[in-house]
Amino acid sequence: MKLYNQGATPVSVTSPVSFAGLIEKIEILRSTLRWASKLDRPEIEKLLKQATTLRDEVMGLSHKERFVQAASAEAAPPQPEVERLPRERRQALMERSFIFEGTFGDNPRLLEALEIAEKAAPTDLPVLIDGESGTGKELMAKVIHANGARTDKPFISVNCGAIPDSLLESELFGHKKGAFTGASNDRRGKFESAHAGTIFLDEIGELPLTGQVKLLRVLEAHEIQRVGSDEIITVDARIVAATNKDLRRMSQAGTFREDLFYRLSVIHVSLPALRERRDEIPLLVSFFSDEAAGMLRRAPVRLTPRLRDFLLHYDYPGNIRELRNLLYRLSCLAGDTADLPHLPQDIRPKPAALAVVGNGACGADAAMATSLSEAKRAASDEAERAFLERGLQEVGGTVAELARRFDMNRSHVQMLLKKHGIHSKDFRASRQADGGKG
Ligand SMILES: Nc1ncnc2c1ncn2[C@@H]1O[C@H](COP(=O)(O)OP(=O)(O)OP(=O)(O)O)[C@@H](O)[C@H]1O
Ligand SMILES: [Mg+2]
Repeated sequence: MKLYNQGATPVSVTSPVSFAGLIEKIEILRSTLRWASKLDRPEIEKLLKQATTLRDEVMGLSHKERFVQAASAEAAPPQPEVERLPRERRQALMERSFIFEGTFGDNPRLLEALEIAEKAAPTDLPVLIDGESGTGKELMAKVIHANGARTDKPFISVNCGAIPDSLLESELFGHKKGAFTGASNDRRGKFESAHAGTIFLDEIGELPLTGQVKLLRVLEAHEIQRVGSDEIITVDARIVAATNKDLRRMSQAGTFREDLFYRLSVIHVSLPALRERRDEIPLLVSFFSDEAAGMLRRAPVRLTPRLRDFLLHYDYPGNIRELRNLLYRLSCLAGDTADLPHLPQDIRPKPAALAVVGNGACGADAAMATSLSEAKRAASDEAERAFLERGLQEVGGTVAELARRFDMNRSHVQMLLKKHGIHSKDFRASRQADGGKG
């Protein structure tokens, strides 16, 4: 809030940004509660009510502040959303009581997706979300559900790629007792479970053509039939589908029904890959390291500058999920400070970068050791590895030269390289590349 001193410049006690931060924290709490697996439904609802009251109170305070601000400032014409600064766009969504479900980031493309979600949520129109693996498609589906009128009704998630063809119909629409071998009871399917709520059809591009035909019928008639039953059941489930495939191209190639594609994609939300919104990485890194610290009951892990640099420039084929998992891994394996050796081997930068490890940097294995002797062995292994990598770098990857320089037996060097999984040719390439750069 701001204090006004007889027309003088306002003194900010609590800035609007901190209101925004507070509301964001309450949002995260509400979203965590909504999906809590260890609490009973009544408990969840009671806590949700309290969190909602708290949120409304904070909103009220924030509104009051803006009212005072607006009264003291000249009225500015409303700006179109896309021309606003990202921070303002997020703030505007918050002011409209948008529920983020823990979706972080101010990247314009993400904000655009959230603004589309905001408009689509209160309708029953089908939504198709596309984006690479781990870009937050399921999270976006939950955002749409949470901002619509069905929020207190079920959100049922179906992974179309994980159901064998033979069980697909029964999974989606249910079956009657005796409909096929193993159908020992009547069973309702996912569509019936999602009645009045939302059904999230994940990996829709994996749905076989027979399943596509049946889905089309549900979309058109809102009716299903359990396998082995003649009874027609009306279902009212809002459909949100997701894919990491290009469904338009698939429909042109005949592997996805074009009519189904158009029906599903009335509203289309595209989520950008993390490497296309690198500006969000620092925020996500600090969010996930706090989250991991909370879960692992430890202080947030510190990152060495070179690890931070790696995290900022890495390509993240697994997108936000990969970044999140990395932060959990680092928080689990490192002591106070995480460094490059704590990264999974397959993404660790090439040995040239690692060769300078040492000087007190504690490797993942040493940090994880459960006894002094194990810690010593791990530390010695790491020193050996660093020595070999640095040596190979210096001699441009020639094993014979390395052996000669350090007066070692060549086959012993080769045995050590094998033990550490080091390939001398990697150092030849890096030297050539370094040489090329001048
Ligand atoms: N913008 C975001 N802010 C915070 N967390 C995010 C964001 N986007 C995704 N996440 C988190 O990243 C993880 C992966 O997200 P999600 O499961 O929604 O991705 P997906 O696109 O459905 O992945 P896949 O294609 O592999 O199924 C989840 O833990 C999710 O909470
Ligand atoms: Mg998913």
